[in-house]
Amino acid sequence: MKFQAVKGMRDFYPEDMAILNWILNGWRRVSVRHGFQEYDSPVMEYLDLYTLKSGEGIVSELFHLTDRGGRDLAIRPEATPTLARMVAARANALPRPIKWFTMPRLCRAERPQRGRGREFFQWNIDIIGVDDAVADAECIFTAVDFLREVHLTADDVVVRIADRRLHKAILTGFGIPDEQHEKALGLLDKAAKLEAAKMAEVWNEAFGQALPFDSLQKLLAAGTIEEFVAVAPQVGLKAESFEGPIGDLRQLWTHLASFGITDYCRFDLHIVRGLAYYTGIVFEIHDKRGELRALAGGGRFDNLLQLVGGPTIPAVGFGMGDIVLSELLKDLNRLQGVSTSTEVYVVDAEEGLFGDVLKIVADLRRAGIVAEFGYKRQNLGKQFKTASQRGAKVVVLVGQKYRDQRVVEVKDMQSGQQREVGVDELLADARAQLVAGA
Ligand code: HAM
Repeated sequence: MKFQAVKGMRDFYPEDMAILNWILNGWRRVSVRHGFQEYDSPVMEYLDLYTLKSGEGIVSELFHLTDRGGRDLAIRPEATPTLARMVAARANALPRPIKWFTMPRLCRAERPQRGRGREFFQWNIDIIGVDDAVADAECIFTAVDFLREVHLTADDVVVRIADRRLHKAILTGFGIPDEQHEKALGLLDKAAKLEAAKMAEVWNEAFGQALPFDSLQKLLAAGTIEEFVAVAPQVGLKAESFEGPIGDLRQLWTHLASFGITDYCRFDLHIVRGLAYYTGIVFEIHDKRGELRALAGGGRFDNLLQLVGGPTIPAVGFGMGDIVLSELLKDLNRLQGVSTSTEVYVVDAEEGLFGDVLKIVADLRRAGIVAEFGYKRQNLGKQFKTASQRGAKVVVLVGQKYRDQRVVEVKDMQSGQQREVGVDELLADARAQLVAGA
């Protein structure tokens, strides 16, 4: 009987693991330098945590089970409700602002497709306790800083930013009552997946009397805050109905400019976000070619802590998945930094020197060099072939001269240049001698 991995679940062979680790290391490095502290959480939560707080989108994608005591559990599909639960439990003890990050492995029972699996890693950055657009800007800055670090430029990716308070202000401005706002926002969120004609039909049927789809489209097409302000009166929306949220967005843009990242950012009211808990600024990061689903998404969720039984504490953050990111980096050929190869391969030029090879390998490894050797005694040609298959930058050749004078040959595999070096000199500064200076 042959076994396969469960549908949508992922095997990480070493070459996949190298990419994943490279991403995880980058996420961690960038988080730490922006002042975030790492936390982690359980793989399972009580199902209620999600059914009550995340909204339908995620709940329909949950892997859930019943334990032996009859309790309904779910495998975590996202980190935000757990974060809210953990912070709420210690709300008074934790010094604020709380700036935390985590990189959990999550599961969602989605239909597997390019960029989407049933299991993925997700970088979460959240700031809790700051009711100011500067925290929203700092989260976006942290995301962009990581993207820059992996050489994704403003030509490759865009952060599309909107504000749910502005969406609601527009709906209210056209006389759509509060209790219909969730439905309207849900429809807007689906707009990208629906054909334009279908979207117009569905929208007009529900809300066309108050806000015809043509007018809505004119507002959604605004590519900057100022364009929106100019277009609004043309479709009959009064300035006083949106002054508040537009003021907040202008504030956000001032901070984005101070952080030096406005080239990556675009005002875009198409962004609503599927998760029910967002209350203010919302954003998504997209590949500019538009071929993949969102790389990251987030926003402000000022009520979530209260919803899980804690005090009301403002919060903002985002999640970025590893799958879409690595797909994009592969497409754009930006994964050059990833390597599973060895640095130094040590070979013996003559019989009887195997023990010396092992001694040199041991010394190199102690000096922090990734060093390998062949397990079988083979002729030099074969040993060199294996060294190059392993991607070795340098080969250290141990011959009789090592026995006589403690001297070895060092060959740079790229340039082909070969030189003689004393082993003591080599080990005194192995990295500079071998890897950097080769
Ligand atoms: P989300 O939009 O559901 O937000 O997910 C954020 C990112 O996780 C997506 O943009 C995508 O890169 C990745 N992702 C989501 N589902 C999958 C999947 N099935 N396969 C591969 N990647 C996926 C949230 O999860 C929010 N909790 C983020 C957040 C943190 N908001 C505030 N703080």
